[in-house]
Amino acid sequence: MCGIIGIVGKDGVAERLVEGLRRLEYRGYDSAGVAAIHDGAIERRRAEGKLANLVKELESNPLPGTTGIAHTRWATHGAPTTSNAHPHATKEVALVHNGIIENFKALREELTARGRVFASETDTEVVAHLVSELVEQGASPRDAVAQVLPRLHGAFALAILFRGSPDMLIGARLGSPLVVGYGDGETYLGSDALALAPLTQRIAYLEEGDWVVITKDGAEIFDKDNAPVERPITISGVTGELISKGNHRHYMLKEIYEQPVVVAQTLRSYLRRMEDQVSLPVPDFDLGTIRRVTIVACGTSYYAGMVAKYWFEQLARVPADVDVASEFRYRAPVMEDGGLMIVISQSGETADTLAALRHARSEGQKIAAVVNVPTSTMAREADLLLPTHAGPEIGVASTKAFTCQLAVLAAFAANLARAKGRLDAKAEKELVRHLAEAPAALNAALAYDESIEAMAHLIAVARDVLYLGRGPDYPLALEGALKLKEISYIHAEGYAAGEMKHGPIALIDDKVPVIVLAPSGPLFEKTVSNMQEVQARGGKVVLISDYDGVQAAGEGCIATITMPKVHPLIAPMVYAVPVQLLAYHVAVAKGTDVDQPRNLAKSVTVE
Ligand code: M6R
Repeated sequence: MCGIIGIVGKDGVAERLVEGLRRLEYRGYDSAGVAAIHDGAIERRRAEGKLANLVKELESNPLPGTTGIAHTRWATHGAPTTSNAHPHATKEVALVHNGIIENFKALREELTARGRVFASETDTEVVAHLVSELVEQGASPRDAVAQVLPRLHGAFALAILFRGSPDMLIGARLGSPLVVGYGDGETYLGSDALALAPLTQRIAYLEEGDWVVITKDGAEIFDKDNAPVERPITISGVTGELISKGNHRHYMLKEIYEQPVVVAQTLRSYLRRMEDQVSLPVPDFDLGTIRRVTIVACGTSYYAGMVAKYWFEQLARVPADVDVASEFRYRAPVMEDGGLMIVISQSGETADTLAALRHARSEGQKIAAVVNVPTSTMAREADLLLPTHAGPEIGVASTKAFTCQLAVLAAFAANLARAKGRLDAKAEKELVRHLAEAPAALNAALAYDESIEAMAHLIAVARDVLYLGRGPDYPLALEGALKLKEISYIHAEGYAAGEMKHGPIALIDDKVPVIVLAPSGPLFEKTVSNMQEVQARGGKVVLISDYDGVQAAGEGCIATITMPKVHPLIAPMVYAVPVQLLAYHVAVAKGTDVDQPRNLAKSVTVE
């Protein structure tokens, strides 16, 4: 899950490659590097850490050249050092890679036995040596690549530069995305259309197993059997502007604040307000025949799926399973006819989720994809595309994508309920009205930002934090804990409130803050009982509830956060706001890198 870009250009490329990397940094920021041909030789500039370090390196040591490749890395094999930074090169060849070469050990042993010397600990370097070896023996770059690709197991997107062919690059993809961009007398390769947005909007998406030769004049694409193929050129529509933070200190905060607008935007395409009906794209299969829903996702998107399970079961009375995508294939899931898999993903590229999608398809399941990037691989491979309209999410911690996913999933559950004859017009009208209240409720929840900031110091000193919730607010407890750990590095766990007494309550002492999510509603009393069990053992509770809830149970808490009173259907969306803001302010208090927390990347394209 690295970002790659390549340019065969008319003018110098280094600056434009770096500009492309800026747009790809969400894929990893352990190191960055560029390579270009200068004076008949391959030259590289590489730097450990964030892109800013590479920019400094290029300032003091500029890199001329009109054909080049560049990379931003999320380390898989080998520490995030300069020597492990891409591009990896021999005298003849330099290349950048996104993915994992699973058989690299065997290949490395084979190459070492033939006298090749390695300069890094990466899996990628074997590809540079394999291609280089053939070129050194007189093979053309095309023949060398065509011979090497079948030898690579795993996933890859590659961009390869050849000393002897200075006006050409070769790209290849299997399991990791790669696009070709068509410019005016220039041609490009990129991990996605976003990387190429300032250069061109004319994009062709390579398919699995494709490889491509690009020159200034265009691209020749070949499939996995080396047969020439055409891939349609589409207009990406991705903006060339770098997304700005506006007046906010961090992307994460900006994205938290965008939620009322983007949820409204998303709901607009799934609700018909005049008729008070849900309105979804019509799939090419009969929704009424769906007998089981299997939801698969990772991280925050998985928690959105956990919330949706309640809705599919309660509204549509359709059995729903939720699986962490990385586990799904390996438990040999039983998938019967009439099954629908719903994948949920902000990026639409998460490798684990994509692998689960493909597995389910091979087992005859229909696929619906709730994704935020409509040009992503998942979007293109699904039978039914249900886009979230959150706009680009830059902060590594997912926020607005989550609430938009919930909005889509609630509408979809209602749609399925209607198709199953479980939702009459009156109930649908009521449900649509509740959903339509979400943007205003999110706005009201944001009004508590300052009071959340004021109490963040209570959490910032903790070593461990617990989050509790019940029903659809239990996944919110998990989400709160994930947000806190990923950006503040404080250990946090979410539990179903009723589960505390079965073990975790042993953790309670006066040093472990417990955040309780308890909106008024059918589960309030029971959640508060569990909260009181914690308090009885000296636990320090922060209660997040509405005015009535805080009045009824706020006494004895170290802090309370008051949310607007909302219908239980939209509570998971609204209660996402305080858990996001709390994690954000705790991270700021601790001085961590909120938008690019350590060890993480925004788009996780390795399994
Ligand atoms: O792009 P996806 O929604 O498929 O990504 C899934 C997870 O990697 C993502 O939600 C991750 O857990 C976030 N960093 C959470 O904030």
